[in-house]
Amino acid sequence: MKILLTGANGQLGSCLQDLAIKSDLFEVLATDYKDLDITNEVAVKAYVEVHQPDIIVNAAAHTAVDKAQSEVELATAINAKGPEYLAKSAQNAGIPMIHVSTDYVFDGTATVPYKPSHLAKPLGVYGETKWLGEEAVRNTLAEHIIIRTAWVFSEYGNNFVKTMLRLGEEREELGVIADQYGCPTYAGDLAASILKCCEKIMLGHRAWGSFHHCGDLPTSWHGFTRAILAEGLAQGKLPNMAKLNAIKTDDYPLPAPRPAYSVMDCSSMKQAWGAGASDWRAALTKVVNLI
Ligand SMILES: NC(=O)c1ccc[n+]([C@@H]2O[C@H](COP(=O)([O-])OP(=O)(O)OC[C@H]3O[C@@H](n4cnc5c(N)ncnc54)[C@H](OP(=O)(O)O)[C@@H]3O)[C@@H](O)[C@H]2O)c1
Repeated sequence: MKILLTGANGQLGSCLQDLAIKSDLFEVLATDYKDLDITNEVAVKAYVEVHQPDIIVNAAAHTAVDKAQSEVELATAINAKGPEYLAKSAQNAGIPMIHVSTDYVFDGTATVPYKPSHLAKPLGVYGETKWLGEEAVRNTLAEHIIIRTAWVFSEYGNNFVKTMLRLGEEREELGVIADQYGCPTYAGDLAASILKCCEKIMLGHRAWGSFHHCGDLPTSWHGFTRAILAEGLAQGKLPNMAKLNAIKTDDYPLPAPRPAYSVMDCSSMKQAWGAGASDWRAALTKVVNLI
């Protein structure tokens, strides 16, 4: 199966490449913005026509949540228009597309895990543009899988795990937000689930629609940090455990508002594609070891 992978050098894209290379089922056309800028409609159309992939996996995104507040045009181009152009090309080529979205399409006022059908109400530009991208894919291409994920970490790129390990080494005391709850997700686990979908599609399985895929046990940024520091200490990557203070969202003002609760229900993805919520603590052990 020939996969056109966009955003191939990001966290998810890198993990997808690592896994796909180990399988003889997949040939990956790995592209980042230098090879294929998804905001360029003509380039996207031409790339799909020339290379004739069997499926598109869109891992490209503008993921800088705070920067997006002041980069509305750029975030819209990458998160909303790019997915639309990819979906149009997939439609013309008669192939399906897997598109990745975010828990930040929700406003965080729920008290039970969000199901994919829950009303989207993004709080910031990143969430809003990702929502527009989802809608463009839904309205353009019937054969789509939209997977919302959350709190992504990996051995690649810049992410919360790396930041906290660094701060844990530099500082004796850390204040971390304890009133936002979500589900950390290892990009490698999400990548494995995406490839599972690809394999099933190849075998004729069909279950198009929108799904959630994230780590299993919900936690706060404070709880996640405690797990990161404990893992760093256990693996000898930190000399000691920094004192961890719980702070409130209001104590740490940022340009973009975040949902206070973005825990997602992953059961429909499990039912439709056999890919359930992932064990983020096991993945954390692996990632801390790799960093
Ligand atoms: N990271 C998270 O915590 C998180 C949470 C929820 C959902 N998600 C979603 O999960 C998916 C994967 O996220 P990630 O963490 O792997 O993101 P990432 O590490 O930021 O990777 C995104 C990639 O897209 C590339 N890109 C940016 N503009 C592009 C363009 N115009 N054309 C082609 N490629 C372009 C980026 O290149 P440059 O780096 O060179 O710009 C980067 O390599 C995204 O859909 C994201 O919205 C992420």
